[in-house]
Amino acid sequence: MKIVITGASGQLGGMIIERLLQTIPASRLVACVRKLESGSKWEKQGVEVRHCDYDQPESLVKAFAGASRLLLISSPHHDDTIRIRQHVHAVEAAKQAKVGHLLYTGFAFAEKGALSMTHLHLATEHAIMTTGIPYTFLRSGLYSDFIGSLGVKEAIETGELAVLPGDWSFNSVTRRDLADAAAAVLAGEDHQNRTYELASASTWSFEDLAEVLSELSGRPVSLTRNPEILNWVYGFLSKIDTTSTSGDLERLLCRPAASLKESVRELFPSGANI
Ligand SMILES: NC(=O)c1ccc[n+]([C@@H]2O[C@H](COP(=O)([O-])OP(=O)(O)OC[C@H]3O[C@@H](n4cnc5c(N)ncnc54)[C@H](OP(=O)(O)O)[C@@H]3O)[C@@H](O)[C@H]2O)c1
Repeated sequence: MKIVITGASGQLGGMIIERLLQTIPASRLVACVRKLESGSKWEKQGVEVRHCDYDQPESLVKAFAGASRLLLISSPHHDDTIRIRQHVHAVEAAKQAKVGHLLYTGFAFAEKGALSMTHLHLATEHAIMTTGIPYTFLRSGLYSDFIGSLGVKEAIETGELAVLPGDWSFNSVTRRDLADAAAAVLAGEDHQNRTYELASASTWSFEDLAEVLSELSGRPVSLTRNPEILNWVYGFLSKIDTTSTSGDLERLLCRPAASLKESVRELFPSGANI
């Protein structure tokens, strides 16, 4: 019985396969990639690699054949209308291939969002439910990568983290934690027809971020609020639910999720002064 994973050349898909290889024989895993050469890393480890392109429906039925579990990783396409079409191709193929259990990486608290992206994830979940295939919705929280868009490098250089005024708080998560949780579900039992909100169990504030930047850089970083800041990220953040929390991620991980400090440290892998 095969566990088939799309987006296997991507960051999240790659981390999930790495984690699964620690507990499941490689012969049970199938890595789906758009370009076969990008699967060579998995092939070398005994994982079957199959071609899968969301824009080529005929590739998908073959890619999903024999899947007792299929993890559909959402497309990264920038146009959400095209993403819907891509996802529907995958959902139709899963039905045709008689996939036993379909798992999908949506977006946490999508009902409370007001972006084309949140509609896309809800639409995909509904499309999956039309098939009657047992499902699990792994709704990813906001990737902590977004912290990089808040001017943290400049904050360390200048000693000042300038943010837009407002009552902001964030339920962000790391890809590593999302990948570990997804692997636990793919390898485990009793997850059928469940929706998991994979956001953090508590939120952090800009005060917390300034403190973490000071600690990690060894230089004081103060917080200032400036209503004139022009940064696209605030428009995005204001249209998604960044404040709701959930214990789902930590329950699946059976450990605490990454702290804000650990998440920020991951953004600066070279460790140079942070
Ligand atoms: N929750 C959040 O904050 C957040 C943030 C960013 C993204 N996301 C979503 O999470 C997903 C996974 O994140 P990630 O970091 O792993 O993204 P990523 O590194 O960009 O990986 C995306 C994967 O999708 C594959 N892909 C792209 N177009 C495809 C197509 N037409 N058919 C089949 N596969 C295709 C890519 O293959 P190639 O290597 O061939 O391009 C790659 O393997 C993203 O795709 C996006 O939908 C969520």
